[in-house]
Amino acid sequence: MPRIGAMPRKLFVTTALPYANGPFHIGHIMEYVQADTWVRFQRMQGHEVHFVCADDAHGAPIMIAAEKAGLTPQQFVAGIAAGRKPCLDGFHIAFDHWHSTDAPENHALAQGIYRALRANDLVEVRSVEQFYDPQKGMFLPDRFIKGECPNCGAKDQYGDNCEVCGAVYAPTDLKNPVSALTGATPVLRTSEHFFFRLSDPRCVAFLEEWTQDGRLQPEVANKVREWFKRDAQGKAGLGDWDISRDAPYFGIQIPEAPGKYFYVWLDAPIGYLASLQHWLAKQGVDMDAYLADPEVEQIHFIGKDIVTFHTLFWPATLKFSGRKVPDRIFVHGFLTVNNGEKMSKSRGTGIDPLRYLELGLDAEWLRYYIAAKLNARVEDIDFNPEDFVARVNSDLVGKYVNIASRAAGFLAKRFGNQLSADLGVEGRVLLDGLRAHADTIRQLYEEREFGKALREVMLLADRVNEHVDRHKPWELAKRPEMDAALQDVCSVCIEAFRVLTIYLKPVLPALAAKVEAFLQVPPLQWADARHALRAHRIGAYSHLMQRAEAKQLDALFEPPAPPALEPVRPGGEALAEEIGIADFSKIDLRLARIVAAERVEGSTKLLRLTLDVGEERLRNVFSGIASAYKPEQLVGKLTVMVANLAPRKMKFGVSEGMVLAASHADEKSHAGLYVLEAGPGALPGLRVR
Ligand code: 2FM
Ligand code: ZN
Repeated sequence: MPRIGAMPRKLFVTTALPYANGPFHIGHIMEYVQADTWVRFQRMQGHEVHFVCADDAHGAPIMIAAEKAGLTPQQFVAGIAAGRKPCLDGFHIAFDHWHSTDAPENHALAQGIYRALRANDLVEVRSVEQFYDPQKGMFLPDRFIKGECPNCGAKDQYGDNCEVCGAVYAPTDLKNPVSALTGATPVLRTSEHFFFRLSDPRCVAFLEEWTQDGRLQPEVANKVREWFKRDAQGKAGLGDWDISRDAPYFGIQIPEAPGKYFYVWLDAPIGYLASLQHWLAKQGVDMDAYLADPEVEQIHFIGKDIVTFHTLFWPATLKFSGRKVPDRIFVHGFLTVNNGEKMSKSRGTGIDPLRYLELGLDAEWLRYYIAAKLNARVEDIDFNPEDFVARVNSDLVGKYVNIASRAAGFLAKRFGNQLSADLGVEGRVLLDGLRAHADTIRQLYEEREFGKALREVMLLADRVNEHVDRHKPWELAKRPEMDAALQDVCSVCIEAFRVLTIYLKPVLPALAAKVEAFLQVPPLQWADARHALRAHRIGAYSHLMQRAEAKQLDALFEPPAPPALEPVRPGGEALAEEIGIADFSKIDLRLARIVAAERVEGSTKLLRLTLDVGEERLRNVFSGIASAYKPEQLVGKLTVMVANLAPRKMKFGVSEGMVLAASHADEKSHAGLYVLEAGPGALPGLRVR
């Protein structure tokens, strides 16, 4: 259990691993901001934290999405992973490491953990009857079966529950079921499944203790208690857990069971360990040795929708494979917008985090707003644009940043940025008052009561502003004999600002870095609140934060602009429909050396090109550029080709890709065809992105 107060703590912290089936939505960012703020706070206390995450790569939905995109699941997942960094960096979310559940560490860990569970006699094989799509040749997950609700008859309902009447049922209860993949009528088939015997008395006893010993939030512990209730026959409420899926499946193979894979939820949380292992290995640290240290606290931040997995399956998986169990699971609610729609993973409505950044909105406005709304309970929080603008402007800019800007000008103009050595009695009392709150605010951060912590800080900022209002530096500035008093008031402001910056730094890391540069101090730690800067020379003040404007928020909620009525047609044609980066990444463009080129007999348009794309073989490509190039002009050029285009059988042979060339839409009136070329130094096989 956590040993609060022990120094320094050793913390292993994770957020939930997002499915690698799409970009982040605002709900992910909320969770990351919560965890990142907590981690930064702990680091400011001098504690050691390993903060990791990963893409949750496996499962049928990702396999099917990849297939639709014409990619292997690995390629598909890599495309999603490539888009993560700008968003994480943009919101200052400082994971130490980002991994993938498809990485080798996770395969090895999952298989090892499974073997340990099996050796512990907790795995059982049973026959299960399930819907099978005969056309596709695969068992169908519930989400891929549709039919009429057995309760209300509503059409087109999923295999697990009815969105019209809310009934919950098994897919086999649906009337007129069809496969959502092929439209075929699914048939029932039996197959062997592997079960983790959670109903074993050892598991039940362990979980009853683990979930009720105070490590979970009270409302979570209460909810979990319901799941243990025995039914009328006295049968324990905890059912066994089906941990296998049949091929085809994108996942980790079950040892000694050909064609069987772990259900994605078995290996997903093991990904926490895989990510940690990779991160520690880079520093020459062995994960098992690290986790064997009883001082290490293992903490998972998650949303309320995945509590079962993290409070039953995951601790049991760890416990009965002989591993360290989590110390805390910090559960948060959902983020709603305007008290309405849930930011659901499947619908993905609401605020697009990347668009937020692209519109130039300040990432720390959002961090502050989210933090100001968060508490330690499992409550939903609401994003309201007017409230957002009001809080950012009145708190952050109006109260906090204002303190520095009120003092900085006088200090620069009149005192060469030199702070007073002695601040006067009233100033010292004010600053002592601010310092006296360090422990309360620390406790609030520790308990994830960020909203309360920030309210405390803003009350302190009010006190400082009142002090300034009482002493009226703008009036002191008019009286030369009051120079010393003016310097004192301004110095008090700067020192107060420094203390408040310490209190806000977990939430506003980038702003705090600017403040550190302005104050010319090393990175602020929590303990720096205790002692004062005296007779110190600060640096030049430059504007720290803009006010938020309502119209910026409007832009965030506006649907993307409709196409113009008279579209501009560069190059003679309107731009193609907008695509996302995921669409673009489906096209694998590579540099290709033209090693040979020749005319094609019987065609005036085509040239036959032999291309080196950095593979073990050369490719044959037919290209319609004979009107613009003589073969000898092309040989040796390094051009760009679509390397993952399906081979096409043409009259003259098979074409294995396509070379890129630019031309006007109306080739007749605008002659010219331009094969793309890479500059010197580039090599065949490099990807164009
Ligand atoms: O619900 C989700 O988005 C899952 N991908 C979370 C997995 S968390 C952990 F177990 F990997
Ligand atoms: Zn229904």
